[in-house]
Amino acid sequence: MKKIAILTSGGDSPGMNPVIRAVVRTCIYHGIKIYGIRFGYDGLIKGDIFEMNVSSVADIIQKGGTILGSARSKEFLTIEGQEKALKNLQDFEIEGLVVLGGDGTFRGANVLSRRGIKTIAIPCTIDNDMGYTDYTIGFFTSVNTVIEAISKLRDTSSSHGRANILEVMGRKCGDIALNSGLAGGAESIIVPEVEFDINKVCNKIICGRKRGKLHHIIVLTEGILSPYELKRQIQEKAKIDTRVTVLGHIQRGGTPSSIDRIIASQMGSVAVKLLLQDKTDLALSFKNNQVEYVPIEEAVSSKKIFNKSMYDIVDELSI
Ligand code: F6P
Repeated sequence: MKKIAILTSGGDSPGMNPVIRAVVRTCIYHGIKIYGIRFGYDGLIKGDIFEMNVSSVADIIQKGGTILGSARSKEFLTIEGQEKALKNLQDFEIEGLVVLGGDGTFRGANVLSRRGIKTIAIPCTIDNDMGYTDYTIGFFTSVNTVIEAISKLRDTSSSHGRANILEVMGRKCGDIALNSGLAGGAESIIVPEVEFDINKVCNKIICGRKRGKLHHIIVLTEGILSPYELKRQIQEKAKIDTRVTVLGHIQRGGTPSSIDRIIASQMGSVAVKLLLQDKTDLALSFKNNQVEYVPIEEAVSSKKIFNKSMYDIVDELSI
């Protein structure tokens, strides 16, 4: 294999840049030409492909986002889009591809792999919603951002004796709420994996008040119910003044945390080494403190198991 390309696709995540750096540097170390593709599969369809060198990735290990740009490509879902993408790879004589993203990105990688492009997928999403790996790159940085928000909210929550709702991302996965709720000492967490119970939330607020607790932080995963509807229900049932904060895309940015950089650097290196062994159609995972891999189809079909015992601990510790 003489030429490898890399693209980032889907929602960006802190840690994509350290992966890009590791892929580029590993290729150059092994005498392989490395190409960047701008804005994911859209850029691949347009032929927005350029050669990278050692300096292309200087000073990016600490940067959030992705220097390559990212996109959610609708065109790549069509056969015509896939044909154009394939032709561009063939025109550049690119034999190996590393793709970074979540499950939508992985499905695209699987298509290219079946059409003869050797492809390795690296899990990069803040959601941690992929069942085949313990962690996805970007998740811990995002959790740190949420913890910081919880700490700040707790200050003002105590000052005013209010309940504060913090809506976090996660799509259909409660891991951001669960982990940040545990580490941030939130009183209530609402996740898609556990049935929402307004009485449980309100009883906790009322019990806390009775023993003099002034703050109450509720971490709500997006998409379950509107935070403003939750506020209305709390004010009506618990008679507590309540405020809403929607953290939004702040969770997607920022300098990648140590663990995200450590996983990212190792995965970038392993991806290139697998391509050099002519391996294809694999998704890298981080399990038991090691980088491992499974077929991409297995990665996208593995069911994410919710950590219910961690959820129960949050409940016990937040009395
Ligand atoms: O998948 C990452 C994620 O940030 C989700 O948590 C969120 O639901 C979604 O992307 C937001 O997507 P967009 O950036 O396209 O609004």
